[in-house]
Amino acid sequence: MSDPYFQKLFADRIGGTQYGKGTEIYKFEKIKRAKRKALAEHPERKLLDFGIGENDEMAPQVVRRAMAEEINRPENRGYADNGIAEFKEAVARFMQRELNVTLDPATEINHCIGSKNALAMLPATLINPGDVTLMTVPGYPVAGTHSRFYGGTVYQLPLSAQNGFLPELDKVPRDVLAKAKLLVLCYPNSPTGKTAMREFFERVVAFAKEHELVVIQDAAHIMLSYDREPLSFLSVPGGKDVGVEIHSMSKSFHMIGWRIGWVCGNPLLVQAYRDVKDNFDSGQFMAIQRAAIAALDDPAIVRATREKYERRLRKLVDVLRRCGFQCEMPGGTYFLYTPAPRAVADGPVFDTAEAASQYLITGHSICTVPWDDAGAFLRFSVTYEAADERAEDALMAETESRLRLIEPLF
Ligand SMILES: Cc1ncc(COP(=O)(O)O)c(C=O)c1O
Repeated sequence: MSDPYFQKLFADRIGGTQYGKGTEIYKFEKIKRAKRKALAEHPERKLLDFGIGENDEMAPQVVRRAMAEEINRPENRGYADNGIAEFKEAVARFMQRELNVTLDPATEINHCIGSKNALAMLPATLINPGDVTLMTVPGYPVAGTHSRFYGGTVYQLPLSAQNGFLPELDKVPRDVLAKAKLLVLCYPNSPTGKTAMREFFERVVAFAKEHELVVIQDAAHIMLSYDREPLSFLSVPGGKDVGVEIHSMSKSFHMIGWRIGWVCGNPLLVQAYRDVKDNFDSGQFMAIQRAAIAALDDPAIVRATREKYERRLRKLVDVLRRCGFQCEMPGGTYFLYTPAPRAVADGPVFDTAEAASQYLITGHSICTVPWDDAGAFLRFSVTYEAADERAEDALMAETESRLRLIEPLF
C-alpha cells in the first residue's frame, strides 16, 4: 500500500517522514510480549510479576466516598481551569504538616493532571532551540523528551553505584553549562531508590545559583522514604529561589489513575507553569480535586502506604540476597534496583540487563524491568498483587525457590 499524502508531513520530533515505519520494539513492549509468551507457554507456572510500576490498591475508602458525593454536586461540573482554591489550601496544609514547607496557596501552588503532565509542560516555560536540559539517567524521561520537542538538547548525568546514585555536578563541561537552563532531579530516585540528603540539595541550590539554572525536582515518590524523613527540596534554604518541586498523588495515596498532583515553589515559575498549562488543558475535574483534599487531610493514608511498601521491600531484599544478589534496602520508592546477573549456572551469559530480564521472564516467569543506561541493573517493583501478608510470604517463597534453582551468577 502506498503512503498517505501526509506521511511526508510528520514533524521531525516524532520521526518525520519515517514516522510509523520503524521496527524497533521498545523496552516495555518487549516485556509485555515476553509476559504473554510466558503465560501462553507455561500456564501452570504462576507469573511472578515484579515488572509493574503501578500501585496494586484502589484509592482509600475515604477518598472514594468523597468522590461519590462530589460527583453529584452541580457546582463541580464545569472547567476547573488552573484549579480550585480549596485544593491548593489542602496542599499547603499537607506540605506544612508532612514536609515543614510553608507555601502561599494562591501563588506558590498549582495542581497538575498528574505529575507527568507537569514534567511535560515545564520545559515549554524555559527551553528555546539550542538550550540544554541536564537530567539524571536512568530516570523518567518526560521532561527531556519535551525539552527536545522545543529544540533543546539533553545532557545526561549518569547515576551509578560509584557516585552513590547522585549526579556529579562538577563534571558537567563548561560549554554545556553555558547553554543549560534546566536541571531535572528526582528524589527519592526512580528507579535507583536513592533518597537525597539535605547537603546534596544545598549543593544543588548553590550550583543552580552559580550557573543560573532552574531546578525541577520530581518528588513523585517523596512520601515513600524509608532511610530518612521525607525531604522536600523546598525545605532547603534557597530551594524556593531556584526551582519548583512536582508532587504526585499517584504513588503514596494509591490514586494513580485519578490524575492529580501539584507543582509548587518559586511563584514566578509556578506562574509560568500556570500560563503554559492554561494553553494545554482546562483543569482536573473539580470532584477529583475535592476528593483529593480528603486524602491530603488524612495523615494515616501515606503512613499506611509507606509501611506496606517498606515491609514488602525488606522481604524482597532478604530473598534476593539469599539467592546471591548484591542488593541493599532502597532508601525510597517502591522499586528495588539491583545489579543484573551476568550469567546463570550451566546456562546463558548475559551481555545486558535486558538479556537477563528476558531470560528470567521467558524461562522462569519472573518479570523485572531492565536498565542498561548506567550499568546493567534490574528493577523489581513490590507493587505485585497479594491479598494479605500470607500471600506476600507465599509469593516470596516461590520467588526464592525459583531463583535458587536458576543459580544466578554475578
Ligand atoms: C519518577 C516519576 N515521576 C513522575 C511520574 C508520573 O506520575 P503521575 O503522572 O502519575 O503523577 C512517575 C510515574 O511512574 C514516576 O515514576
